[in-house]
Amino acid sequence: MTPYDFSRATRLIKARIGIVLGNHKEDMVARNLGLYTKKLGLQEVSEYLDLLDYNPSSIEWERFISLFTINHTAFFREQHHFDILADFVKDRQKPITIWSSACSTGEEAYSIAMTLQETLVTPDSGVQVFASDIDSSAVERARQGIYTLERLEPVPQPLLKKYFYKGTGSFNGMARVKPSLQKMIEFSVANLISGEGWPSGRLFDAVFCRNVMIYFDKPTQAQVLERFAQTIKPGGLLFVGHSESFTHMTTAFKLKGQTVYVRT
Ligand SMILES: C[S@@+](CC[C@H](N)C(=O)[O-])C[C@H]1O[C@@H](n2cnc3c(N)ncnc32)[C@H](O)[C@@H]1O
Repeated sequence: MTPYDFSRATRLIKARIGIVLGNHKEDMVARNLGLYTKKLGLQEVSEYLDLLDYNPSSIEWERFISLFTINHTAFFREQHHFDILADFVKDRQKPITIWSSACSTGEEAYSIAMTLQETLVTPDSGVQVFASDIDSSAVERARQGIYTLERLEPVPQPLLKKYFYKGTGSFNGMARVKPSLQKMIEFSVANLISGEGWPSGRLFDAVFCRNVMIYFDKPTQAQVLERFAQTIKPGGLLFVGHSESFTHMTTAFKLKGQTVYVRT
């Protein structure tokens, strides 16, 4: 891969999904693109980049995005956020809608849904979780709701029993989310920076946008915050990742503490 291919690939990914790939990622980009170019039967990385550049609606974009998204996540990641959420929804008027806006393979969305089920007396009516990610293959896995027991370790045993079926036979060592939890969540593909798939017209009580903005540059972060400001009800919450801080970037949100912001 030539330096020109690298800068072209990083430009394409930044323009499409906002992720900034620094020079230290050059080896990773070269390896991923090299392998995938071969798999497609193409000779040069530049041919693959041409295919993407000149075909903005090509299905190949989905695969290209998947090559560079970092899907690391976990059930009840940053437990304090779920304690704050439980406290927040306890006395809140229904309908309550929460958005897991970079949900990856679904662990965050199911953790939100379990928190709502456990906190509210009659959660089924008027409580909904909208969960989305740019990476369509991650969203598909989220929709399936099948996880290894190892991944489910952070889920307390009573919740595991209540909300998951343990697999048997060829599904030994796995568990599947029960329909009662799954039906609370609407999964979808959405791009935080282009607004494609964005749940327009909906107002959320809380939005989780954790561990994704860290890969965006400041102007992109400001643009996404501006959109969230239009999407979150006054007094609603924005949950961000442990190393993300937007305190001086917006007046629409005030820090509540523990990486949680309140819509002013
Ligand atoms: C590190 S994971 C975080 C998952 C989860 N929010 C958590 O904190 O455990 C980051 C996710 O952001 C998604 N992502 C990256 N760029 C995005 C964009 N422009 N719009 C929506 N999701 C994006 C990736 O596909 C990936 O699944």
